[in-house]
Amino acid sequence: MVDKIETVLQTIDLDATPPVQEPMRQYYFLKKARKYIEEASRKMGRPLTACTTTFGCQMNARDSEKLDGILRQIGYQKSESEEADFVIYNTCTVRENANQKVYGRLGVLHSYKKKNPRMMIGLCGCMMQEPDVVEKLKKSYPFVDLIFGTHNIYKFAELIVNRFESGHPIIDIWKETDQIVEDLPCERKYPFKSGVNIMFGCNNFCSYCIVPYVRGRERSRNPKDIIREIEKLVADGVVEVMLLGQNVNSYGKTLEEPVTFAQLLREIEKIDGLKRIRFMTSHPKDLSDELIEVMRNSKKICNHLHLPLQSGSSRILKIMNRKYTKEQYLELVEKIRAAVPDISLTTDLIVGFPGETEEDFLETLDVVRKVRYDSAFTFIYSKRTGTPAAKMENQIPQEVVKDRFDRLLSEVQAISKEEAKKVEGQILPVLVEEVNGQDDSLVTGRLTNNLLVHFKGTKDLIGKIVEVELKECRGFYYMGEKCER
Ligand code: SAH
Ligand code: SF4
Ligand code: F3S
Repeated sequence: MVDKIETVLQTIDLDATPPVQEPMRQYYFLKKARKYIEEASRKMGRPLTACTTTFGCQMNARDSEKLDGILRQIGYQKSESEEADFVIYNTCTVRENANQKVYGRLGVLHSYKKKNPRMMIGLCGCMMQEPDVVEKLKKSYPFVDLIFGTHNIYKFAELIVNRFESGHPIIDIWKETDQIVEDLPCERKYPFKSGVNIMFGCNNFCSYCIVPYVRGRERSRNPKDIIREIEKLVADGVVEVMLLGQNVNSYGKTLEEPVTFAQLLREIEKIDGLKRIRFMTSHPKDLSDELIEVMRNSKKICNHLHLPLQSGSSRILKIMNRKYTKEQYLELVEKIRAAVPDISLTTDLIVGFPGETEEDFLETLDVVRKVRYDSAFTFIYSKRTGTPAAKMENQIPQEVVKDRFDRLLSEVQAISKEEAKKVEGQILPVLVEEVNGQDDSLVTGRLTNNLLVHFKGTKDLIGKIVEVELKECRGFYYMGEKCER
């Protein structure tokens, strides 16, 4: 990808006016930004460094890889330390504590900037789509150089150029977009696996959730663009893809020629050299029989489904606007398990939604006990300004929520621990991800059900899929032994 872009960059004349069409316009600004970085680097007598910090979900992680791609293309060297020449925070606002973290850390960045006045600080991502946040930043954090949102992340190079040329902070937030710009640089965190956006935005408006407001309306990428991207990734060494969308089950509905998610998966399955397919997130209301059939027959789709429940109470689910009942959810789980018996099921749960009674909470516990999730993310309800739930009366007192949260967590953990054991003794394929951080005689990899396995091995195994005997389950991970064949 970079090489192809590099060839185009060589043909660009910076004295001409910037092109209007994307991605050509951004290629122009990539080249222009590079000129400014080179100049700055000459003055400083050393290469400039940049550090990207990501908050939030896998979508944000993927967006950060795009930011990194642009930073590298324009000449910044990657830095792990936030004492870099350019620090960019890709923010999340799904819960209040995600916001607080950013404000806290901005104080620290300010102290670094006092030591290195040429340092630039950039903020982007979901939190920036909230007008109150931007107001607060303008007033109390004037040392931030660059603020942009989720819709114009592809313009990163252009915004950097604007910052260099104007000498003033740049704030550029779009309310909405219908554009998807393809073929921009991207720097993957892992050589052997990658996230792939299949859609952006969300139309579901669950009553507690801010994502539809900060990520905009649902837009699906063209299947051809997705396939082309995955083919390129595979040619570049990727064996596992994670297809990303807020509700992958509604993929393709808004395309000119509608395609279902199941159809897309069938096409992706055919890509030679691709070994594993994951996806998230599946909304239970849109999970089709066609998808279950594709999962049952697929050799590449991993043995794992993340199926957020949120609450087990049909009454609360209705107020949450989730569009399924407890019974429908449980039926769906049965149908999936009948088709793919050993599938690993994981979920997201919220406690303390406004008006949640002890009975409602017990319904959630009941589903947890019936489904026996392999793992579950448990969240305390967080009031998000602008969402319908924020205006609801009877918000639940903190001590009640805390008590329910603790009870839920201990139940979820006890069950996950038991479920994790179920493949003990088996020989299963593991995709090796890294040398173990604590013991470098071990490598760490993942089963298709997403559990981690540590076993004796060397770094040349990274990115390979090997057969491992699962000797001993230790809570939430395995100790194994590679099978010699
Ligand atoms: N699109 C995905 C979820 C994206 S947000 C889906 O519908 O499943 C990830 C998780 O954050 C959600 O599943 C939910 O459990 C949690 N979440 C979202 N808004 C929240 C809020 N206001 N308070 C607490 N948790 C929330
Ligand atoms: Fe939020 Fe619901 Fe959309 Fe998920 S489906 S992102 S929970 S509004
Ligand atoms: Fe957070 Fe935005 Fe993801 S709000 S969870 S980073 S879509």
